[in-house]
Amino acid sequence: MRKIFMLICLATVLFLKAKAQEIPIEKGWKFTTGDSSQWSSPSYDDKSWKPISISHSWESQGYPNYDGFGWYRLHVVIPSSIKEKSYLKDSIRLDLGIIDDNDEVYLNGKLIAEYGGKGGNIKTSQYGPRSYVIAANNPAILWDKENVLAIRIFDTGGDGGIYGDYQKISMADLMDNVTINTEADFGYDDNDNLVKSIKLASNSKYPYKGKLAFKVIDPENDAVVYEKLNDADFTAGKPFTYAFNLAKLDKKSYRLSYTFTDEKSGKAKSKTEGTPYVLTPYPTAKPRINGADVFGAHPGNPFLYMVPATGKKPLIYEAEGLPAGLKLDANTGIITGVVNQKGDYPVTFTVHNRLGSKTKKFTIKIGDLIGLTPALGWNSWNAWGLTVNDSKVRVSAKTMTDRLAAHGWSYINIDDGWEAPQRVTSGEIVPNQKFPDMKGLTDYVHSLGLRMGIYSSPGPRTCGGYLGTWQHEDQDAKTYGDWGIDYLKYDWCSYSEVTDKTPTLADYKTPYQVMRASLNKIPRDIMFSFCQYGMGDVWKWGAEVGGNSWRSTGDIEDTWKSMSTIGFNQVADGPYAQPGHFNDPDMLVVGKVGWGDSQHNSRLSPDEQYTHISLWSLLSAPLLIGCDLGKLDRFTLGLLTNDEVIAIDQDALGKEARQAIKTGGYQVWIKDLEDGNKAVGIFNTSDKYQTITLNLKDNELSGYAKIRDVWQQKYLIISGANYTTKVAPHGVVMVKMSK
Ligand code: GLA
Repeated sequence: MRKIFMLICLATVLFLKAKAQEIPIEKGWKFTTGDSSQWSSPSYDDKSWKPISISHSWESQGYPNYDGFGWYRLHVVIPSSIKEKSYLKDSIRLDLGIIDDNDEVYLNGKLIAEYGGKGGNIKTSQYGPRSYVIAANNPAILWDKENVLAIRIFDTGGDGGIYGDYQKISMADLMDNVTINTEADFGYDDNDNLVKSIKLASNSKYPYKGKLAFKVIDPENDAVVYEKLNDADFTAGKPFTYAFNLAKLDKKSYRLSYTFTDEKSGKAKSKTEGTPYVLTPYPTAKPRINGADVFGAHPGNPFLYMVPATGKKPLIYEAEGLPAGLKLDANTGIITGVVNQKGDYPVTFTVHNRLGSKTKKFTIKIGDLIGLTPALGWNSWNAWGLTVNDSKVRVSAKTMTDRLAAHGWSYINIDDGWEAPQRVTSGEIVPNQKFPDMKGLTDYVHSLGLRMGIYSSPGPRTCGGYLGTWQHEDQDAKTYGDWGIDYLKYDWCSYSEVTDKTPTLADYKTPYQVMRASLNKIPRDIMFSFCQYGMGDVWKWGAEVGGNSWRSTGDIEDTWKSMSTIGFNQVADGPYAQPGHFNDPDMLVVGKVGWGDSQHNSRLSPDEQYTHISLWSLLSAPLLIGCDLGKLDRFTLGLLTNDEVIAIDQDALGKEARQAIKTGGYQVWIKDLEDGNKAVGIFNTSDKYQTITLNLKDNELSGYAKIRDVWQQKYLIISGANYTTKVAPHGVVMVKMSK
């Protein structure tokens, strides 16, 4: 299954396809909830079933919050002409898009493919488009006749059904076996030129022989700035490698295009990718104190805060005005202790090194609220899915300390997949063999000045089929407390099975109220992150029920469609963000992601990744990195360590940006900041370069004439009443405007 998944993941692959060889299957589907073995039969009459689109989940089409079984049916003619026109005539391919979570596919009543299993049997991630290859001589296929395709789906929670793009039936092609592997990182030579190599590979014995056309395209004018044609031969086990270097390019993403054409068949396959470019200036050797300006903790609970600072090591830390009960380690910047007295404590931090010193005013607020600014951290899910283990978490923690913590990153959150299949006889939850010593792991994370997060579900099972907290809330909260957990992501998942099928508003709140009460009994500050995908407009009651953040959407994927749809739709929930309580549009998909053991570079282009981080910062979203931290490249590190961008996310006012302008081609989002200034994101949502003008006489921005580009960290010189900027396709320019 995983091999198919990987092939499909390389979604930027453009098949140079003869349209006639494809049967589109996007339209004409019928749907019903429930389950019956009759529904696979071609003779079953599905007239009374409701029409459904397979571009969106069933939730958004009249089945809100429906989990469990659902069936899709389609009547489709498969013409034998597609076989005749194809080069390899031996199999057909069924591209179904994403299926959430598990499926059985029947063609004319015969089971031809399946994935996962009901609930607990999900072996890999439930993500990734399904693509099934079936022999062309399979008797289930009725050539030139009407076929009935019936798909039985089981959804464990959250979004359900079939959704996605490029759904079709086609012949498996000669080029389906070819991979244009662009996964190697871009490197830099001594002159800072970009260097890279790509691989053409195949698992077929066919001797591919032809040409690889390599082009570098300037996306501003679509001009080809460099072009080279190479001989390329490869076959199973003998890939072809093409290495190149690109002399210093301007600070923008160029489009690289690779097209292989096989001489004998005339078949071709292409792939494109964007060159990375780093805008974030390299931190100076002089000390600088980064991160939020405030930190909240409850009186009487263990306190942990590491002063985030950059500068040439060794750094020496000082703090003036610390409340009684706290002490600072001058060599690590880690503050620990317990404060018993409520109050706002103004503190001055100073960091020294051989090159100078820097001070910063900071407020420690001991009171009822924690999570005054959105969490900054890492979560295992988008990187490792259910394959997370102790050593992967340790690598992440160590990397966070070495490369990210100086910019304010502090949470190391284990998502689903840590739980043992059974509770011990006393009813306590225990980790599985991938986590031999949870307390030891947590102690290690704390020793680095970082915090530890964990995951569970209020239902009997988690979304990945592991053990949930159902009816063990007090016990689990206590266990988390004993381990030293600082953050709990609590995921609805199978809770639907133990509540009403159509939950009321009160039902939505119940599991979170119950766990809130259990967490309140634990003498620890545990950030409480609701994960229930926005059901019942959670943003309206999340704060009152005691959530520090709540997911406002289904699961994100590393595609422009997913990221931009989620990000640019955070409108209704916006006004509800406030210190201690934030909307969570899901975790980051920059860097190497994979939801399992095979990782791939995020399918977001470099400009889309700038958009992702900028938009999430404007939205005051928890920033939870979802990549393999052990393999951070220069580009990803630049994205995650821009202190002026992070400061927008961490702004103490805690407001969320408003969508101030929305046109077909661009959007402007404006966020009010604590210091009276505005953070403004100018997003090009089109796929062409655009010049976008902001009218500075506009009410909201009137008088805000001082403009600083936060990614580049420099002031811009503008004259007149307009600010005009060029923005890359799917890219952003983010500025801070002040009077
Ligand atoms: C759901 C959540 C994800 C992740 C998985 C784990 O899908 O939305 O973020 O936690 O469950 O199984």
